[in-house]
Amino acid sequence: MKIIKTKNYQDMSRKAANIIAAQVIQKEDSVLGLATGSTMLELYDDLVSRYRAGDLDFSKIRSVNLDEYLGLHPSNPQSYRYYMDQNLFNNINIPVENTYLPKGMVDDADMECAAFDALIESLGGIDLQLLGLGLDGHIGFNEPGDAFIKESHCVLLNPSTIKANSRFFEHEDDVPRHALTMGMGAIMKAKAVLLCVNGKAKAPILKQVLYGPITPRV
Ligand code: F6R
Repeated sequence: MKIIKTKNYQDMSRKAANIIAAQVIQKEDSVLGLATGSTMLELYDDLVSRYRAGDLDFSKIRSVNLDEYLGLHPSNPQSYRYYMDQNLFNNINIPVENTYLPKGMVDDADMECAAFDALIESLGGIDLQLLGLGLDGHIGFNEPGDAFIKESHCVLLNPSTIKANSRFFEHEDDVPRHALTMGMGAIMKAKAVLLCVNGKAKAPILKQVLYGPITPRV
């Protein structure tokens, strides 16, 4: 594990973009594991700028996202599909059919999760997985629990996650209570993982992540 301490959010975003850009340049058909959330906004902006400057080509890249809210249609501005389209996919030359997120509008969440894991396998696994960190220590929506869950699964979000994410919704009651998330198996099998964390509020949980015991609670 390599820890890169940066000056500020801009510096973190640029350095993370450097790592993703290097992956895209070195392997033009890479499978990128992507994340949403406020942490990634400037990093995605930076990748778009590099694409517009002619420095990056995403035409052969495949992407799989970590998670999606259950019950949100892709046209809902709070859905993660909408976030990815707006902040990245619509602004680069990745073919939309090469971008995958768990589908939030499904009747059978377990079947969708199994299909999502099969899809990741069929792509040959993830080359570089981008992760943010939740205030409660989650990655993807793998919330603190008693055991690591290897497979993609449907999760009941923690009250603290619902509260943290309510900033994107009009009312806290509008935040979906369930989400579909990639499990720890596909994340840990990724050839490389890039975890980006910023802001004072995350200092205590980051300390636990880096220096505390390895546990499904963090
Ligand atoms: C988002 C995701 C989450 C976020 C985490 C941090 O796809 O998987 O784990 O990375 O909740 O969110 P922000 O960046 O909004 O603090």
